Amino acid sequence: KIAERIETLLARMSLEEKVGQLAQISGADFVPGPKAEEIIRKRGAGSVLWLNDTKKFNELQKIAVEESPSGIPLLFALDVIHGYRTIFPVPLAMAASWDPDVPEKSQTVAAREARAAGLHWTFGPMLDICRDTRWGRIVEGAGEDPYLGSAMAAAQVRGFQGDDISDPERVLACAKHFAGYGYSDAGRDYDPSYLSETQLRNTVLPPFKAAVEAGVATFMSAYMDLNDVPASGNRWLLRQVLRKEWAFEGFVVSDAFAVANMVIQGHAKDRREAALRGLKAGLNMDMSSYTYTENAADLVAKGDLTVAEIEELVRPILALKVKMGLFEHPYVEEGLLEKVVARPEHRQVSRWAAQRSMVLLKNEGGLLPLKKDIKKVAVIGPLADSMEATEGSWMVFGHKPAAVTVLAGIRAKLPGAEVTYAPGPEIRRDIPSWFESAMAGETRKPAQTPEESDAAFKTAVETARAADQVVMVLGETDLMAGEAASRASLDLPGRQEELLKAVAELGTPVALVLLNGRPLSVNWAAENIPAILEAWEPGTEGGNAVADILFGDTNPGGKLPVGFPRKGSHAPLYYARNLTHSPEGSPMYNPRYWDGLPTPLYPFGYGLSYTTFAYSNLKVSAPKTKVGETVTVSVEVSNNGGSSWSTVWGPYYG
Ligand code: GLC
Repeated sequence: KIAERIETLLARMSLEEKVGQLAQISGADFVPGPKAEEIIRKRGAGSVLWLNDTKKFNELQKIAVEESPSGIPLLFALDVIHGYRTIFPVPLAMAASWDPDVPEKSQTVAAREARAAGLHWTFGPMLDICRDTRWGRIVEGAGEDPYLGSAMAAAQVRGFQGDDISDPERVLACAKHFAGYGYSDAGRDYDPSYLSETQLRNTVLPPFKAAVEAGVATFMSAYMDLNDVPASGNRWLLRQVLRKEWAFEGFVVSDAFAVANMVIQGHAKDRREAALRGLKAGLNMDMSSYTYTENAADLVAKGDLTVAEIEELVRPILALKVKMGLFEHPYVEEGLLEKVVARPEHRQVSRWAAQRSMVLLKNEGGLLPLKKDIKKVAVIGPLADSMEATEGSWMVFGHKPAAVTVLAGIRAKLPGAEVTYAPGPEIRRDIPSWFESAMAGETRKPAQTPEESDAAFKTAVETARAADQVVMVLGETDLMAGEAASRASLDLPGRQEELLKAVAELGTPVALVLLNGRPLSVNWAAENIPAILEAWEPGTEGGNAVADILFGDTNPGGKLPVGFPRKGSHAPLYYARNLTHSPEGSPMYNPRYWDGLPTPLYPFGYGLSYTTFAYSNLKVSAPKTKVGETVTVSVEVSNNGGSSWSTVWGPYYG
């Protein structure tokens, strides 16, 4: 049935139109070139990206359906990786819940809102395993472990797509960035990845395979060279592994401009060869570089490519448009989004997901949970009232931050207390992100002068001095992790540690809340601060969730999806490594570096709770086994935290 419909469509399409379906064109005017309207009217398009405007979606769709030669509807695509209007914890935080329900329920809400806005396709889930925390995009993934990564991959696909992509509340998912992007040399974003087949098969590929098994509709090929061949022109990845071995039936879109970039990466002598290499490698759709539409007809005319090869790449694109029901329902109801966003369960799921994602790193002397009858709390730090840091990186275009900040969350929790606030000295990247200029369109505001910084420092210390309890909110801004946000050090940026030390000196009890998109080397805090809560970038309800945990309405249960190195230069650092002849704990153990311990500050899987647990009766079903057989490991876990902490909390909505 669907196959027949596709053959009927193909039969009446010109070559130019078939190639048109292999193009994802820009809906944003930061990409020079012909306007989307003209392109669509002339030959249609596979998809439009970087547009976030319901009215405009319908306008462009009308041109495609009513004015283009074959009336094939467009797919509207955008990065909705942890929420569209209601923002959820970043994917790295969701992985810290170790509960597939968290990403599945969160992405279900994200899909409902994105679809109500008129989007059909999100560029998520990002599945890049990463063991070098200097890489800024670790925030978008599930950390260092392929098993956890695979579980999160399947859960996100289920959340975005549901079990029927014709459901008008679902969007197509996109497994990205295929493959090996998390291994860019030394965590330098976009740098080449060199991976053995062992590393690929055991660590990098499993989450992508899990996404295929979960029915993911699309893939995105990565920017970087994988073993000297750009992923977007990599037959081994796109034909051998993805299609032959995994029998993937969807389609692959490149990353932004990645086809044209093959010229810069030295893999193609010109755009024409770049287009040929992408098409031959099995890359269906060219994101925003227009190399396919520029060259495909000539490639066919000169016999470098056949019409049949082009049609083979077009079929899965048409198939998904048919399966989504876009031919029958190409338009979106304007005004639907506000009704959907207003549904109370949207913010409730966000608050619950944030509660489940946070990791209690330290709680000496049971400082936490704090008492609610506390009189005077000082909330200190440059991120304490930052909506941007609370919602985190990779916001959709045009998103207006609306997060409940940690300050707001604590004020809401303690209506009777005096909750004071001081940001202390500002923090900013040494080198601005191009997202700050190109995308945001704002000119970067000038840095604080040393005098302003000192004044802010003093005010913060004085504010802390006057309080009974201090909550420090430190970490990274939203632009310090994410794309084009790698860094050589993992230390707290700016004067944050200096401020923390000065406040700790006062003797007032200090609880530290971290807002960050990657592990940070908080070595001094780990030694000297009694309580540390890793809140990541927790989303729209983040401040409420932090307050829920700080004041004991919810028990923190998150566990680290990636270890925290003591230094950036210790990367790559991960738990699942081969034992050497002198492993940790052995009599011959030699701690590798002579200038400090190489072990993680906090290891993979680490996380405390307000209660304590006892483990007993560890059992293994068989002392040995053969390849392919299974072994069952069981253990008894008891919650022995005494009467006050014996209940296991459900979600708390305040
Ligand atoms: C970006 C990112 C990719 C994103 C795409 C579209 O550069 O690498 O993750 O989905 O372009 O915005």
